[in-house]
Amino acid sequence: MRPQPMVSIDVWNASVDFPIFDAKSRSLKKLALGKVGGKIGAEGRVPIIEALHDINISLRHGDRVGLVGHNGAGKSTLLRLLSGIYEPTRGSSRIQGKVAPVFDLGVGMDPELSGYENIMIRGLFLGMGRKEMEKRVDDITEFTELGDYLSMPLRTYSTGMRVRLALGVVTSIDPEILLLDEGIGAVDAAFLEKARDRLNDLVARSGILVFANHSDDMLVELCNTAIWMDEGRVKMHGSLREVVKTYKGRDPYEHLNAATLERIGQSPVLSGNGGE
Ligand SMILES: Nc1ncnc2c1ncn2[C@@H]1O[C@H](COP(=O)(O)OP(=O)(O)OP(=O)(O)O)[C@@H](O)[C@H]1O
Ligand SMILES: [Mg+2]
Repeated sequence: MRPQPMVSIDVWNASVDFPIFDAKSRSLKKLALGKVGGKIGAEGRVPIIEALHDINISLRHGDRVGLVGHNGAGKSTLLRLLSGIYEPTRGSSRIQGKVAPVFDLGVGMDPELSGYENIMIRGLFLGMGRKEMEKRVDDITEFTELGDYLSMPLRTYSTGMRVRLALGVVTSIDPEILLLDEGIGAVDAAFLEKARDRLNDLVARSGILVFANHSDDMLVELCNTAIWMDEGRVKMHGSLREVVKTYKGRDPYEHLNAATLERIGQSPVLSGNGGE
């Protein structure tokens, strides 16, 4: 057997600030009273949004983390910090492993290029090699049911067709660290149903998963622990059940639809996690 690759994420006392050079001072007072978003401070005369404050997180192989918290709490910013896209303004971070950041399903796709070419580009962006992607094209083609459309430029696709292509590629990769922002939960229910097994397999073969999502069903199905973000801070980090219970005030496992319940009961990855 091959040894497990070293996959880990460590973040020590990390903060991420965004200085805003073009803020309108007249409207700033109003913003300060708002309920959502990170704290707005100021250094000299430049307002600064403290998107993340003093974050300490340590993740290892096998961790499947759901990220919860209200709008502007810092989930997407945290995913960018964990991917290495953002460097901490203060503190430090160390990321070991190949990161696949899936923040926006179709990002980086070119409307003028064909479906096939876009499969390649997106796969390379997500850390795959050209040869590896070539081996997967048939499988992606079959899954997307796009047939001859894969030879047509992407601009001729409907929205749903684009989503099929993007989801086909994303679920075909082998990520060491998989970071998913809400986007994936936004695809249409019928197609998600079809993609569900692929999504589960994708998570099962990834080393670390961090998944920002608001849906109990999605969280329960893909994650076993959770982080609750609030005003740029980690408010709670623990088992999925405990964190969601505290954040939402209800047990996520008691409000699942029947199909999800049945699936997690059968899932080789997740069965047993709901019981503790
Ligand atoms: N590029 C940026 N420039 C300035 N401020 C930003 C930037 N990105 C995020 N912020 C701020 O950082 C804070 C956290 O935003 P973030 O997008 O991480 O929240 P979120 O938890 O993902 O919210 P949502 O649930 O709405 O997606 C917010 O106050 C937001 O205004
Ligand atoms: Mg977000």
